Amino acid sequence: MSPNEKMWGGRFDGTGDPAFEAFNCSLGFDARLLQEDLEGSRAWARALGQAGVLEEGEVEQLVAALEQLGTELRDDPTPLSQSAAEDIHGFVEHALQARLGDLARKLHTGRSRNDQVATDLKLHLRGQAAELCAGTRELMSALVDLAHDTAELALPGHTHLQRAQAVTAGHHALAYVEMLGRDVSRLEAAQVRSDTCPLGAAALGGTAWPVDREALAADLGFGAGPTRNSMDAVSDRDHATEVIFACSLLMVHLSRLAEDWIFYCSQEAGYLRLGDEVSTGSSLMPQKRNPDALELVRGKCARVQGDLTTILTLQKGLPLTYDKDLQEDKECLFDALDTTRACLQVTTTVVRSARYDAERCRAACAGGFMEATDLADLLVQAGLPFRDAHGRVGAAVRAAESKGVCLADLDASDREQHLPELAGVDLASVLSVEACLDRHDCLGGTAPHQVQAQARAWKERLQA
Ligand code: ARG
Repeated sequence: MSPNEKMWGGRFDGTGDPAFEAFNCSLGFDARLLQEDLEGSRAWARALGQAGVLEEGEVEQLVAALEQLGTELRDDPTPLSQSAAEDIHGFVEHALQARLGDLARKLHTGRSRNDQVATDLKLHLRGQAAELCAGTRELMSALVDLAHDTAELALPGHTHLQRAQAVTAGHHALAYVEMLGRDVSRLEAAQVRSDTCPLGAAALGGTAWPVDREALAADLGFGAGPTRNSMDAVSDRDHATEVIFACSLLMVHLSRLAEDWIFYCSQEAGYLRLGDEVSTGSSLMPQKRNPDALELVRGKCARVQGDLTTILTLQKGLPLTYDKDLQEDKECLFDALDTTRACLQVTTTVVRSARYDAERCRAACAGGFMEATDLADLLVQAGLPFRDAHGRVGAAVRAAESKGVCLADLDASDREQHLPELAGVDLASVLSVEACLDRHDCLGGTAPHQVQAQARAWKERLQA
């Protein structure tokens, strides 16, 4: 591009180095901000009209051309990939100039690409965050439906990846619903905090034209009005950072669900089976059925953690106000948004396809002495201090383990030695997995009727 084709060519002589021009160019990724750039430009045209910089007829022409541009490029975006413009703002300016000639050259009055790009990003994030919230809610609904169907299905619960206590599969599913619910509120809170309009901040010092920034912010739907400090406005990327953080934590949650379920699907556990539509085979081993969907979700979590590191490191020590470093905010942001959206969608399909093997789960609950704490509680009910009960049950577990039986099947002499207070109690019935689950009946506990109540409450919340 020659200097006079550039938005800023006036003080330059000679053409730029082609490798540098390619290096400097962001159109390949910021083309994604086209519609937001057009929206911001329409609002700026109206603001210049109110400020008396443009005549009413000029505003109308600009707004109409910007709208037309948006429609045409939505239908056919090829001009975006063929353009030599430096970025999306330059692209729009050129395209407008091709239509309106000199009138288009007035639009950038009192505006900078610095406040422009900050505004575009916030507008973009508003839509993207709403989409992510909707996708998260879809996944939550799938998990709530699963919880409803498996509120009574016993499953080994682990600590230290050792069998700990039986829980219900529904309880396990709702644990993820809680995490995802916090993720939605994090995304929403990030939007509330960034709901201010940077346009009018200009390059860094605020526009010199009598633009009504309150009206401009309202025009663009920013609920909290205009940004209050122009230097902050053009250099602030907290909004992108917070959304990437919300995505990374959401991805951490998805990766934990993925990991749990990859294990549940293993032959070693065998608790769960995923649908064919999200499973894959092996090119060599004909018998294989692999949980690739979940492994990819677990793996893609790493990308989003990388995106968060990128955006944080990008801003570390960056001097006020705008620096070109900030052009690097976009690819990590878009990658985090796209990756998270795709993972939410695939995970939702995985959850809807998943079927627990109730028999395998039940059989697994019979091993590992997961009823030991319940037995200690029974001794406490019979009058023993808990620490003594813990010691007694520990010894009973040792005896049962050495004989290869479960606690309910200890013989008379072991029972007499370790559990004399429970003489005559039908241990098989009070220590059955159902009885144990039912006893964990506190609010938030795994008793089936608590899980059913939580699933119902979530269903209502998600419908509201
Ligand atoms: N493409 C640039 C970015 O994304 C737009 C802002 C450029 N501003 C400037 N003063 N060079 O950051």
